[in-house]
Amino acid sequence: MCGIVGYMGKENAMDIIINGLKHLEYRGYDSAGVAFVEKKKIKKIREKGKVDLLKKEIDKLKIITHSAIGHTRWATHGSPSKENTHPHSDCKNKIALVHNGIIENYLELKNLLKSKKHKFSSDTDTEVIAHLLEENLKHYPIFDSILNTINILKGSFALLFIFADYPELMIGVRKNSPLVFAEKDGDSFFSSDIIGISTYVDRAYFLEDETIVFLNKSKFSFFDFKGAEKKIPAKRIEKSSFFIEKKGFKHFMLKEIFEQPEAIRETIQDRYSIEDGTINIGIDKSLFEGIDKIKILSCGTSYHAGLIGSYFLESFGGVETSVILSSEYPYKELKEKETTLFIAISQSGETADTLKAIRKVKGKNRIIAITNVPESSITRESDNYVLTHCGPEISVAATKTFTSQVALLFLLSLQLSQQKNALNKKEIIKLLEELRKIPVQMEGVLNKSSLIEKSASKFYQKENFLYIGRWINYPVAMEGSLKLKEISYIFSEAYSGGQLKHGPISLIDEGTPLIAIAPEDRAKVKILSNIEEAKTRGAEIISIGTKGDSELLSLSDVMFSIPPVNEFLSPFLTIVYAQLFAYYIALRRGVDIDQPRNLAKSVTVE
Ligand code: G6P
Repeated sequence: MCGIVGYMGKENAMDIIINGLKHLEYRGYDSAGVAFVEKKKIKKIREKGKVDLLKKEIDKLKIITHSAIGHTRWATHGSPSKENTHPHSDCKNKIALVHNGIIENYLELKNLLKSKKHKFSSDTDTEVIAHLLEENLKHYPIFDSILNTINILKGSFALLFIFADYPELMIGVRKNSPLVFAEKDGDSFFSSDIIGISTYVDRAYFLEDETIVFLNKSKFSFFDFKGAEKKIPAKRIEKSSFFIEKKGFKHFMLKEIFEQPEAIRETIQDRYSIEDGTINIGIDKSLFEGIDKIKILSCGTSYHAGLIGSYFLESFGGVETSVILSSEYPYKELKEKETTLFIAISQSGETADTLKAIRKVKGKNRIIAITNVPESSITRESDNYVLTHCGPEISVAATKTFTSQVALLFLLSLQLSQQKNALNKKEIIKLLEELRKIPVQMEGVLNKSSLIEKSASKFYQKENFLYIGRWINYPVAMEGSLKLKEISYIFSEAYSGGQLKHGPISLIDEGTPLIAIAPEDRAKVKILSNIEEAKTRGAEIISIGTKGDSELLSLSDVMFSIPPVNEFLSPFLTIVYAQLFAYYIALRRGVDIDQPRNLAKSVTVE
């Protein structure tokens, strides 16, 4: 992961780099650093911890420079210490570089370079690049040295280089890790994600894989990895209607939970017509022609959205659907039939595991990508993509992107159903009407947030939680449990209610908190028995069910209720309680909610 930023122009580069790094902190926040050239010498400032600490140091030193590179780190190789903080340099400190990605053959290269007397000062994979370039520069001019260096590297990398001897030069390289370049009025910008520089520019070059950007003062050119010049079109940047501000909320996560009704409205609007019962999410009809199987590839929260979507696709579209973790897919020895349609789900559009998984079937199978980022790698590598319109999601724990993905999968399955005549028009119109009501019903649930806050104050000191759900709310239990783990660091596990008796029930003791997602649906009677079994053994029951369910209420220590809804749509409402519960527990425990330890929002390593 990690985020990188570069700037060369008329402004003070430090302001632009720090501002950019703050926006990229969702990619990692173990340590941060900058480098620039002063009097033909590389200067570096690096701090362990968040970008604010780096900013303090830069402010103290009152640095003014017009060209610099910066980095915010999510540690992979080497602990999050100051020595391992980027930028890294060669032996003579003539080169500084920042890197996002992983160099897979770094050990082999490090040994080779050590044998040539190179001295390393960090444990990172990145540092080998600086020494390799230094070695090449002994024999070749700068451009050839860059080519020789990057063509030896295996793995993924977005890189920015500056040089003590060439202060007007900055070189950017992209392979398998995202990098954006932009220019405005003679000022040039690099960033891992457009969000890092979008305040300054209206257009940007979203670099394709295996691209080098050679920037000399304000002149820039693009090259491929063989050194041939290439043209890349600049694209207009879509500025989102959702602001990257907390808007009075204590955390981005809470703001984003509350933005869910709006995110769903934005995501579904103009994609269906209730009047004539038609759906058009902007994908070609040919994608569904002749398919007999659907495979969904995704990770983390997007995996849970995929699990919910699989029920829609099977029930409405009548196509057998399996959901596979992208990180596991490459190990499968399968000959996929052409009649299998793949759906890749990724809010960031950058998850390396998902990117790798879709590359495995690209060209052979039809793929639809669902992402929240228009110019992301997964969007660009998929022939067909559909966007959720959530605006940027800053909190590491995903919330509004999750419910918007589910909404999009709902529409996608209805479009499939329409094409296959699986459901009739009346049934489709009914489902669309119910979906349209969801944002308002969600607002109703959000209005009860103070109830959750109150019960969180009762449970926040518990050391572990069990979550159960059945059928379409089993993935909700998984997602609720993931939210709690991510931001409160409490151990929790989610099970299908039916599996409790096959092992996990032995964990239940007097006072064990069990969160049961049990709205009125086809699985309700069975989950009530599962709750009963847990209660008999001493569990404290926190339930999320349907208003007026007296049976569930009588079994519960605390019950949160949703209005009666179509059984396929309850996850939109039950998950809001689970998200808020995790949020308020974490708030009570005083942890860093938006940037939980060890995590990053965009995971560009496998
Ligand atoms: C990271 C994030 C999760 C996210 C997962 C998949 O682990 O912290 O919130 O669910 O990646 O991300 P994607 O962008 O592919 O949905």
